[in-house]
Amino acid sequence: MANPWFETVAEAQRRAERRLPKGVYGALVAGSEKGLTADDNLCAFDELGFAPHTAGLSNERDLATTVMGQDVSMPVLISPTGVQAVHPDGEVAVARAAAARNVAMGLSSMASKPMEEVIAANPKTFFQLYWVGDRDTMAAKVERARRAGAAGLIATLDWSFSYGRDWGSPFIPERIDLEAVRRYAPQVALRPRWLWAFAKTRRLPDLSVPNMVGDPAEPAPTFFGAYGAWMQSPMPTWDDVAWLRELWGSDRPFMLKGVMRVDDARRAVDAGVTAISVSNHGGNNLDGTPASIRALPAIAEAVGDQVEVLLDGGIRRGSDVAKSLALGAKAVMIGRAYLWGLAANGQAGVENVLDLLRDGLGSALTGLARGSAADLSRDDLVVPPGFERRLGVEGPDAPVEAVPTRPRRARSA
Ligand SMILES: Cc1cc2nc3c(=O)[nH]c(=O)nc-3n(C[C@H](O)[C@H](O)[C@H](O)COP(=O)(O)O)c2cc1C
Repeated sequence: MANPWFETVAEAQRRAERRLPKGVYGALVAGSEKGLTADDNLCAFDELGFAPHTAGLSNERDLATTVMGQDVSMPVLISPTGVQAVHPDGEVAVARAAAARNVAMGLSSMASKPMEEVIAANPKTFFQLYWVGDRDTMAAKVERARRAGAAGLIATLDWSFSYGRDWGSPFIPERIDLEAVRRYAPQVALRPRWLWAFAKTRRLPDLSVPNMVGDPAEPAPTFFGAYGAWMQSPMPTWDDVAWLRELWGSDRPFMLKGVMRVDDARRAVDAGVTAISVSNHGGNNLDGTPASIRALPAIAEAVGDQVEVLLDGGIRRGSDVAKSLALGAKAVMIGRAYLWGLAANGQAGVENVLDLLRDGLGSALTGLARGSAADLSRDDLVVPPGFERRLGVEGPDAPVEAVPTRPRRARSA
């Protein structure tokens, strides 16, 4: 058998593409419309350079930090994603990997495994909520998360229900019925290892979302059933954010994920959040939104001394983590990077990805003569003119520049 270890996230992605049925792989590549934002999330990191030292480098690589009240081994968290059908152990495998590496994790409302199982595998788990239903429905889910022992809540509100991709959206069945089997059969036949992983568990992916109900004893809705309920829900207001935060408990960790503007970051501070994640949902939401790393510096400058500022979007290597910290993030969250690891090699694949990010961040610290990740600063970087996007900043010095036209790389996630 070939060595299951991979040396970069790009290799994990290649293996995931070979291993997963086309539709499942396509659901992880995701992106929306023309893919401008998903691409910019990656390209923007390539525009940032380093300013390394030659001698006087540090032997220390202090990466440990505290995020949302949790002591963690490095400033990298697992971002919440619905990992339907990627691997039979799904989010439980991810949680075990995160626990093995002392890393905190966000668990999606759209996840395939019940929060109780995931939190048992990694107590450093924050439960992520979308705004679905009314306040009573939300309160029931918050209560379930509290009973299950979630270490914090993540509210994700940046979703505008856009659909359609120029490269085609994958077919996602409502449930695994005869029609789904017929449509998926040709793809699945080409991916026997993926099928075998599920066959060993005597279960096919059922595509249900067990965390969308307030009572774990209730039947889990299907992915599309939950998505429909979400679409019909009233859009949440800033008062709703403050209400949710208060309901969870003002002394308990609470993150608002998906902030791209300075004015919204200030409103999040007013709502009493512990942390925000500067994020555009991995380029899966409103296409044309700039890369989150471009929006980070202005937001970190405005609110970084009042709340923990995290970043997610486009992190594929340890040097991306270093660049994010140098521009003001306390930590980053990863999405596709660990999904490729999970698809390539289950729990060990996620651990492999976390190890690559740790080593890459460590190398950046060595080269930049920093003993601690917390010491990284903008002086360590080459930031080209016009790199930043200062969104939601009032005043004449706040241009909202267009995304520069540059040759786009081939679509990859
Ligand atoms: C397949 C997929 C599913 C996702 N599902 C969720 C979700 O359920 N909840 C959420 O808050 N974010 C979700 N996200 C966004 C991620 O949490 C994160 O913001 C994004 O993946 C970061 O970008 P990256 O993939 O480039 O690391 C999802 C992303 C992907 C790729």
